[in-house]
Amino acid sequence: MDTARGWIRTCRSLCVLTGAGVSAESGVPTFRGPQGLWKEKDPMSLATPEAFAEDPKEVWEWYQWRRQRIRGCAPNPGHAALAAVEAAKPDFLLVTQNVDGLHRAAGSRRVAEIHGSIWVVRCTGCGAEREERDDFPELPPRCDGCGGLRRPGVVWFGEMLPREESDAAMEMLSRCEVLIVAGTSAVVAPASGYAALARRHGARVIEVNPDETPVSGICDATIRGKSGDVLPALCYPRSS
Ligand code: APR
Repeated sequence: MDTARGWIRTCRSLCVLTGAGVSAESGVPTFRGPQGLWKEKDPMSLATPEAFAEDPKEVWEWYQWRRQRIRGCAPNPGHAALAAVEAAKPDFLLVTQNVDGLHRAAGSRRVAEIHGSIWVVRCTGCGAEREERDDFPELPPRCDGCGGLRRPGVVWFGEMLPREESDAAMEMLSRCEVLIVAGTSAVVAPASGYAALARRHGARVIEVNPDETPVSGICDATIRGKSGDVLPALCYPRSS
């Protein structure tokens, strides 16, 4: 922990990759843990363009249920620590797979939401896209401009990542001195390959996760613990 803290404190360019585990302590269910979201609903059969084409109402019922659950969740000390360390770094990017918006709510600004946002809604007809946080009275919601079907502004399995966010992530991973990988099972591409990419460019990689993951073996430091405890210890200067 001290060595990893030293790398973070002394580096100029810091990249952070987060997954659902960073939001777990805020009460947002993860996808693949023992209490995972996958257990309650099978997102593999819901978070896909095919599922939406076949039954947009059911897909929306699942997203409306997730929006309702996330709406009551607040950022936790792990989110706060990442917002704090960003302010101390001239060159920083937080790449998140999370769609809950809790990093921005905690004050993070240099954020690349590579899987989109559950608060954004996009018309499949005219492309009109905006953030809407309230529940929809009617599911699936229709576009008030063209009457088209509106979809959640998230990346589904088999879809491309948003170009701007993906490019920003790749650019930062090719030059960062340190990469923190926190709260991700590292099984979904392309994010699952980001640790290896950063390492190839000479970055030191620090993993924060209570469990072993497929990238644990290539990390320079693996800290087994909850991100809400570990990230503040890693990112805040020692109190003494
Ligand atoms: N602190 C840190 N890590 C935690 C915590 C915690 N408190 N609790 C759980 N974890 C870890 C789990 O051990 C697991 O490795 O967080 C990880 C959560 O993994 P997933 O549920 O698979 O979430 P994620 O890696 O973000 O999934 C990637 O898959 O379904 C798609 O698009 C979805 O963005 C998601 C992507």
